Formats: sequence, C-alpha cells, structure tokens
Amino acid sequence: MLNIQNLHARVEDKAILKGVTLDVPAGEVHAIMGPNGAGKSTLSYVLTGRGGYEVTEGSTSLNGEDLLALDANERQRRARGEDEIAAPAFLKLAREKAASLKIDFEMLKRGLNVGFSGGEKKRMEIFQMAMLSPKFLILDETDSGLDIDALKIVSEGVNALRGPERGMLVITHYQRLLDYIKPDRVHVLAAGRIVASGGPELALQLEAEGYDKYASAAA
Ligand SMILES: Nc1ncnc2c1ncn2[C@@H]1O[C@H](COP(=O)(O)OP(=O)(O)O)[C@@H](O)[C@H]1O
Ligand SMILES: [Mg+2]
Repeated sequence: MLNIQNLHARVEDKAILKGVTLDVPAGEVHAIMGPNGAGKSTLSYVLTGRGGYEVTEGSTSLNGEDLLALDANERQRRARGEDEIAAPAFLKLAREKAASLKIDFEMLKRGLNVGFSGGEKKRMEIFQMAMLSPKFLILDETDSGLDIDALKIVSEGVNALRGPERGMLVITHYQRLLDYIKPDRVHVLAAGRIVASGGPELALQLEAEGYDKYASAAA
C-alpha cells in the first residue's frame, strides 16, 4: 500500500529526512514515534504534498502510484477517479456516518466549530475524515492537548475507520494514544531516519526508557 523508499527531504535548505524507508501494507496501522524535531511532521507534510518541502532523493508511492508526482489536491477524492457525490446521497452518507460516530445530526447544522466544546470539535474532525473516506490516513500528534474523553472519541472514530483496504500512519511523541489505537508495527524516527522497528511492545519500552539511546545512535 504505502511504500517509502530512501526518502530524503529538506526545508529551508536544511536536510530533515535522511533516508526514510517504510512499508505499510493495506489493513495495517503503523505508529511513528520519536523525539521532538526528529522529522515526524516533515514526513507527514512530504507525504501529503505540502509546499516548502523539497524531496532530494528517494520515492513514495501509494498502491503503486507515485505520490511525489501529484499535487496535494490531486491526492484527494476526485483524483482517485471517484465521482463527486450527489446531494441526496451525500446527506444519506452524512446521517449514517454521524450516527456511527454518535454525533447528533443537529450538530451538523450549526456553523462549523462555532461554540463547540473541545470534544465536539474532535468529533467533527473525525466525522469529516469519515466522510472523506481516505484510502490511507495519516494522523500527526492527534493526541496533543486532548483530555481523556476527547482522546477516546478520536480513537473510537479512527478505529471505526480501520479496515482491510485502508492503511494508517499514526505519528505520536507519546505512547498514550497507542493504548487506544493499537498499532501493528511501531517505528522510531530519530534525526531523519527510522532507527528501530518492532511490535506494540516497542512503544511501551520507549515510554519507560525515553529516546536517549536513539538520539545517540542517530548522531
Ligand atoms: N519551515 C521550517 N524551516 C526551518 N526548519 C524547519 C521548518 N520546519 C521544520 N523545521 C525543522 O525540521 C526539524 C524537524 O521538524 P518536525 O518534522 O516538525 O519534527 P517533529 O514533528 O518530529 O517534532 C526540526 O529541527 C525543525 O526545527
Ligand atoms: Mg511534529
């Protein structure tokens, strides 16, 4: 599904990613953990095609399609060859998704995020994600600043989107989110490279030991 091969990227002439290689098969959830400044967000921006990031070497593809050749907007719905949804079908889909995420449909009629609580905002983000129904999901530090109730809402929504056709990359500094979104594989990104990979137990080990040993390994 997602293949990243020897990816090098720079921002403002500064090399940030220095040879990332990663393979996320369809149906799997992989976590990327690592110290602050490791390049985690840079990786998500390069994959989603945000401007200002220059790929200097390597490749990324989704189901065999070269991601780097597509503009950010081409990585979305129409580019996948799907029809835009007609209004009645859209409403039906919206009602179904809202119900499955325990969102009161009345909430969808309010101005977006006007007067929403933190938890409601998160619920809406997950709803929007469910409506887009992406082939592949990248979540970057989704847990930062969430209280435990909002974290559960987000995790339930994400888990509901898990499926045999869909891959996910969950980027997080802390292990906490991974108690709720159980990853198949965990990778440590330090100084622009994947320096360790393992099962879910690696996240627990990182929580206990910190990133110190990887910081020195990467230097
Ligand atoms: N626009 C930018 N200009 C200069 N340096 C940047 C920019 N964006 C990110 N960086 C640097 O790139 C490195 C990696 O950042 P980032 O990908 O956000 O790390 P992480 O998400 O792992 O904390 C950091 O050293 C950061 O300061
Ligand atoms: Mg980040």
